[in-house]
Amino acid sequence: MTFKLPELPYAYDALQPYMSKETLEYHHDKHHQAYVDTGNKLLAGTELEGKSVEEIVKASYGKNQPLFNNAGQHYNHLHFWNWMKPNGGGAIPGAIEKKIVSDIGSVEKFKEDFVQAGVGQFGSGWAWLALKNGKLEIMKSPNGENPLVHGATPILGVDVWEHSYYIDYRNRRADYLKAFVENLVNWEYVEKLFNEAT
Ligand SMILES: [Fe+2]
Repeated sequence: MTFKLPELPYAYDALQPYMSKETLEYHHDKHHQAYVDTGNKLLAGTELEGKSVEEIVKASYGKNQPLFNNAGQHYNHLHFWNWMKPNGGGAIPGAIEKKIVSDIGSVEKFKEDFVQAGVGQFGSGWAWLALKNGKLEIMKSPNGENPLVHGATPILGVDVWEHSYYIDYRNRRADYLKAFVENLVNWEYVEKLFNEAT
């Protein structure tokens, strides 16, 4: 099988009180598992079988929408689990902070714009910090779409599908996004992706 569900990189209750055990159980064990299972079924017998997740996402975009939806969501969630950690948020690694200040204006503006991108994404989707043509940009996308299909490399993303926050925050998406930025982001993982992309 090309797509495989990874283990969470922390215990299910490790992100409390910002993200509950119940949310992670449903989100990882049910939602991500469904993208993996449906993605594998849709991939079977196509010429993309055995390619990397990134290649499948890019190649299926605009050509095979059902496969793209599931492959995109698999890619997004693979990173999403790693974009969070217990006791996350806090200081941004120096090189990224410098790049945020030069490309976006300030750390405060990055946080505001990132939260606003998530709040402003109508319906399901994602908000992103991505590197495009050497510059960091805030982006947002609907459903399973991501910056890969817009010529950019995501280095941070947040899931704004209701399954990501409704158990813990009900309809308060902005509160979820603020908690994500201030208390959940795993900046070491963001730094790893930033270094790989530059
Ligand atoms: Fe999700």
